[in-house]
Amino acid sequence: MLYDNIAVKDGRLFFAGSDTVKLAEKYGTPLYLMDEQKIRQNCRAYRTALESCACPGSYAVYASKACSFAGIYKIIAEEGLGADVVSPGEIFTAKKAGFPMERAYFQGNNKTDGDIAFAIDCGVGYFVCDNFEEIDALDRIAGEKGVKQKILLRVTPGIDPHTYDEVSTGKVDSKFGIAIETGQALEAVRLIMQKNNLVFEGIHCHVGSMVFDSDVFLRAADVMLGFVAEVKKVFDYQLKTLDLGGGYGVKYYQDQGEIDIPANIRQVAAHVAARSEDLGMPAPSLRLEPGRSIVADAGITLYTVGSVKKITGYKNYVSVDGGMTDNPRYALYGSRYTVYTANKAVFSDGITADLVGRCCESGDIIQPGVKFPADIGRGDTVAVLTTGAYNYSMASNYNRIPRPPIVILNRGGERIAVKRETLEDLVMNDL
Ligand code: LLP
Repeated sequence: MLYDNIAVKDGRLFFAGSDTVKLAEKYGTPLYLMDEQKIRQNCRAYRTALESCACPGSYAVYASKACSFAGIYKIIAEEGLGADVVSPGEIFTAKKAGFPMERAYFQGNNKTDGDIAFAIDCGVGYFVCDNFEEIDALDRIAGEKGVKQKILLRVTPGIDPHTYDEVSTGKVDSKFGIAIETGQALEAVRLIMQKNNLVFEGIHCHVGSMVFDSDVFLRAADVMLGFVAEVKKVFDYQLKTLDLGGGYGVKYYQDQGEIDIPANIRQVAAHVAARSEDLGMPAPSLRLEPGRSIVADAGITLYTVGSVKKITGYKNYVSVDGGMTDNPRYALYGSRYTVYTANKAVFSDGITADLVGRCCESGDIIQPGVKFPADIGRGDTVAVLTTGAYNYSMASNYNRIPRPPIVILNRGGERIAVKRETLEDLVMNDL
């Protein structure tokens, strides 16, 4: 099995100990399921590795863009993680859920004056400043509000994480952050030093997503520590916090590579501590910003089959009642997934078909080339695994399709964490 929360019993797929076919009947499809214990387990893996490391005060910050709804901020808060928030929408959701906002990190390459004012009013602990204009605007708005705002500066270390381009963000030509290589990051520090309302805590980078190479964070740490040392030399100012961003990859299919996240964290932290000593500096407090590796394997999506089209001599299609509206990741990135027919999980006679959605668009493919039982047909339940990250959060109402609900499973119990959108919800803002 891909993960330990997946099992097959009597030919049916179980998730987090529950019969997925029964859940599909009870809540309808499409349906997002989330395994609360798996989320907590993932949080604790980060927490344990970071708490025992040689960089004091280190903790993980959940990148909530991976999956943002009120209930998840509650779980994350209970597990002692911070939250990376990227919009007033995420800030509002976190605050409403009672998240301790002093542990919120506001990211993004274009925060408007309105966003900045809103985030300060909500008590966001840290701004991760992305550009010169933001530094000016934040200092001005914080001054107007009589606030001394803690910040990290987002820089680009010039590291290629060797994953897919859409998520590579640490290279010099990225739209995010300010490049160290060109000298512009040091200029940004000079600007920050002139400001009265900013408290310069540290630097941040995020090299990319789906990282499996164990040396990516080590290389990033080296460049970042070099920059901390340069800031110390030029401005006689010691930065306290080093945020290396998120990006650890997860397994979507059986023969995919893996990375031992806690082992890598320990390695990175030990490296940071040793390098800091070489540079004659105290070890900074570390932040990591995992999104995918906190929630991906804690989620699956269930669908109901509507039609099976066998185009003689060409190919087969299995159409379900969701699609790119609840999971656009194959359409966007060609992402691979593991798929089960939940009510016929064991079969000997199979067919190969593309699993497609209901949108009026040929690109609405959830996964091509899937093995299904030969007798798959209307009414069967299909499960796509590892959909906890970047599915619900990237879902849309294309074709005016309502978004599915999220049901959280916890130790045999279940609760609706996000209601299914209704047709009335779709027209709510139409005048
Ligand atoms: N920190 C920052 C500043 C980020 O931009 C991101 C992700 C993360 C942390 C979390 O990275 P993770 O641990 O989840 O890899 N929609 C794409 C992924 C986009 C990632 C954007 N930034 C996908 O579905 O693969």
